[in-house]
Amino acid sequence: MTLGVNIDHIAVLREARKINDPDPLMALAICAQNGADQITIHLREDRRHIQDADCVKIIQSSSLPVNLECAIDQDIIDIMCELKPHRVTLVPEKREEVTTEGGLDLKTQNKAIAEVIAQLKQAQIDVSLFIDPTIEMIELSSKLGADMVELHTGMFANIYAMLNSSLPYSHHAIEELKLPRHILNSKLEDSLNAIEESATRALELNLEVAAGHGLNYQNVSLIRNIQTISELNIGQSIIARSVFTGLATAVSDMKELVK
Ligand code: PXP
Repeated sequence: MTLGVNIDHIAVLREARKINDPDPLMALAICAQNGADQITIHLREDRRHIQDADCVKIIQSSSLPVNLECAIDQDIIDIMCELKPHRVTLVPEKREEVTTEGGLDLKTQNKAIAEVIAQLKQAQIDVSLFIDPTIEMIELSSKLGADMVELHTGMFANIYAMLNSSLPYSHHAIEELKLPRHILNSKLEDSLNAIEESATRALELNLEVAAGHGLNYQNVSLIRNIQTISELNIGQSIIARSVFTGLATAVSDMKELVK
């Protein structure tokens, strides 16, 4: 399984001061030397972390493929077509959200998404769709012409955290899951089954399969066991660990678990 390291949070730290330090560009060589297979960045509409200039510098300098995440927004898609990263991952985006919550709505947004996919493919950019792990979303992704899907592992990660940490439930996104342990255990199994079944269906439809969101050094082995997933994109846990261990160790520790 390959590892995409999401380096947005380096830019989060920089933007806290609105200066030029730390520069996400500095992470490229360290990630590459310590087992990362890909660099992932998200150019958000509100530019809260990664800036346009970061994208240019990172794409120009990276020895690894760059996976650029973005919303279905014509201005941003035009920028993508000019930047030409090796892949664009389309994600849903709400300004008020802390991070990407849930997958794309391929049912009501299907026309806009099909148009954006066609535009990106015309620019010879591979397109991945960040979706919830359901058979319906996989089949729609295939119909819309995506090359790849990234399965949202946020639900799995939330349930795992509820079962394995002592944080109060309110720290997690899904309030309705204030449930006894045996029910949480069966929900964890359901969420893993949904990811596995979606990945299998995606492969049948010739879609490559990535997964990501909320993966960390504790929960990643359960996703790593799903053989039909070929790539994991991980940000928060790696950059969080790097504060204490340095980025080189944080990336190589994760690579050990993912490879
Ligand atoms: N994949 C996608 C599409 C994302 O939007 C994100 C979050 O930016 C990630 C992976 C990484 O999630 P995390 O930071 O929780 O590891």
